[in-house]
Amino acid sequence: MASPADAVKTYTQPSYNNFTFAVAGKLFTGAGRRKVAVAPIHQPTEDHMQHLIQRSRATLAWAALALTASLAAPAAMAAATPLNTLNGAAPIVIAHRGTTGYLPEHTLGGYELAVKMGADYIEPDLQLTKDGVLVAMHDATLTRTTNVASLFATRNGTYSVADFTLAEIKTLTVKPTGTASTGYPGFTPSSPDAFRIPTFQEVIDLARAQTAKTGKEVGIYPEAKQADPVMEDKILSTLIANGYTSKDKVFIQSFSAATIKSIHDKQTALGFDFKLLVLNNSANGLLGIGLENINDYADGVGMSITGAGLTEAFIDAAHAAGLLVHGYTFAKADPTAAELEYLKFFNWGMDGVFSNYADLAVAARNEVVANAVPEPSVLALLALGLAGVVVFSRKRGAKAPAQPLGQALAA
Ligand code: G3P
Ligand code: CA
Repeated sequence: MASPADAVKTYTQPSYNNFTFAVAGKLFTGAGRRKVAVAPIHQPTEDHMQHLIQRSRATLAWAALALTASLAAPAAMAAATPLNTLNGAAPIVIAHRGTTGYLPEHTLGGYELAVKMGADYIEPDLQLTKDGVLVAMHDATLTRTTNVASLFATRNGTYSVADFTLAEIKTLTVKPTGTASTGYPGFTPSSPDAFRIPTFQEVIDLARAQTAKTGKEVGIYPEAKQADPVMEDKILSTLIANGYTSKDKVFIQSFSAATIKSIHDKQTALGFDFKLLVLNNSANGLLGIGLENINDYADGVGMSITGAGLTEAFIDAAHAAGLLVHGYTFAKADPTAAELEYLKFFNWGMDGVFSNYADLAVAARNEVVANAVPEPSVLALLALGLAGVVVFSRKRGAKAPAQPLGQALAA
């Protein structure tokens, strides 16, 4: 009987193909440049068996790698967001005051339609009633958007929200403005009070209900319309009372940088980190504050898309300072004109759009994402997957007919 030293020979294949080895009385051929242990046909050793086991494991590993990479690459491709937004993420669609272009603004009906159209966030501007309740309302007065003048006399010479109680405000009906109507084809609002002024709480309730219904978290994007510490407190306390955490899709916005800084300080003290955004009609206004300074307390800036100084260079500068850039207000009703406008700003790297026509914004956003070019990391993953498939195929396909062990050793 041959000793283990005689029984096991080490053979280094000089070329890629055609090494041969034997185990359990059978000859095997394969491919590879590594050293392989070759044993006589009738004397497989334990070392040899271990080698073969390792080799099988290596082959399986290659197969698994190839399969995993092949499967992972398309998934990564689908998730790839090589856009020039701050984080490479797909830009978000914010339903500006609801679906202001189609239905009365700041109404539950308008918000619900926006969600159905695919908006990521619904935006309530907030005012405080006489009895201290946050309601969704852009103007400080009720005149432009409601029938208040037909139901009430003026108070202090105006129809200020702050002069009316919630009970009084709840008797009002919100009128469509601009291109909006009192209904939208094929859409029946869930709420019986779809076109009354909703409280902030009711907007949250709608967002939560739609989240549960659709399975996609409906973000909320409240704006403090007054630079008022009481309003700051009520916004934060309402969010916290509703169980929102810093991980939820929440942005708090204000044209007052001081208000955003104050909310930052308050929420930090409370252990929260809701995303915050400073609005300004002009780039100069924001540059005057200093983008780096804003980054100390906010996550982004909101800019008028018709305001002075909103250029690609400004967006780059904001991104360099670590700030998101959301633009307002996308209000073009014509689909072709709207698409061009969205694409212009998305191509500049804008991170989010406040839109009156959520459907048009979603269509443009989806178009940009679909046309995105894979990131280098995704390309590398694709190449790895392809390489794995090729190598595995060669290993499987290179198997030559078995030949006598002696010939193999002599080759
Ligand atoms: O809050 C962003 C955008 O909505 C600002 O415009 O006047 O509609 O609140 P406004
Ligand atoms: Ca707003």
